[in-house]
Amino acid sequence: MTSLFTTADLAAGEIDQIIESSRSFRNNSSGSPSLNATVATVFFEPSTRTRLSFELAAARLGCSVVSFDPTSSSLAKGESLKDTVQTVAALGADVLIIRHSEVGTPETVERWTGCPVINAGDGRRAHPTQTLADLLTILDRFGAIDGVRVGLIGDIVNSRVARGLLDVFPRMGADVTMIGPPTFLPEWPGVKSSTSLDDVLPSLDVVYLLRVQKERGGKDGYPSDGEYRQRFGLTEARAASLNPDAVILHPGPLNRGVEIDASVADGKRSLILSQVANGVPVRMAVIERSVVGS
Ligand code: CP
Repeated sequence: MTSLFTTADLAAGEIDQIIESSRSFRNNSSGSPSLNATVATVFFEPSTRTRLSFELAAARLGCSVVSFDPTSSSLAKGESLKDTVQTVAALGADVLIIRHSEVGTPETVERWTGCPVINAGDGRRAHPTQTLADLLTILDRFGAIDGVRVGLIGDIVNSRVARGLLDVFPRMGADVTMIGPPTFLPEWPGVKSSTSLDDVLPSLDVVYLLRVQKERGGKDGYPSDGEYRQRFGLTEARAASLNPDAVILHPGPLNRGVEIDASVADGKRSLILSQVANGVPVRMAVIERSVVGS
């Protein structure tokens, strides 16, 4: 059984293997696989890109896909999480893809069901397939991540996306700086921090923006959207100070006009839609790993 809970569970060689496999799927150099497995997406929090890309990935691997929607499920009649996931497993799911607000739910679901579980985001902790899609996007542009100067900007303390990047990027030799108001900056060994975006921006190769996680308490960490934009938003004026080869990433969903101006999000430096597109082959590689074992 090969679950994926956090990137911290992946050794460097396993990350390389997933990236290589993702590239093969993207180039279709693996042919058309047929895994003969059933994959269930069980999301207890909203999602657009993660859920759809997992479902597309599973379909492209030849899997059957079932999609659980909590709002129209028997949860509304008082069914528990445990009974819900055991029901999905009893219906024949071979792999469960879980998103939940509680940290550690993927491990609990693996224990309850005996199925491999892929974490599609749990609380503030981890969103490993987002990290892997981001890594692939940066590797496509820079060839390697060693020495690449990455700025993580925004609500880092409340972000599961940021935690994955803070795990993987320094391990692979990136030079990472966290930037935001002091309330958004956790202590992180080996990673620099700054409260001035204007000071750091011109030195970055990768500008990685995060939205304020209002649903996880982020709204208490800054005065207003307007002030946030003024100090930490990647405005059109600020983007003019970027170095010529710098690129812009954002995991989505975007708050245009807050952490990023619309013209910057849609501009030529933006790799935001590449991150989304890379989510499909990366999730194909991760589902295949869960089905066939690593
Ligand atoms: N990046 C991300 O997790 O987006 P969704 O919430 O739309 O899946």
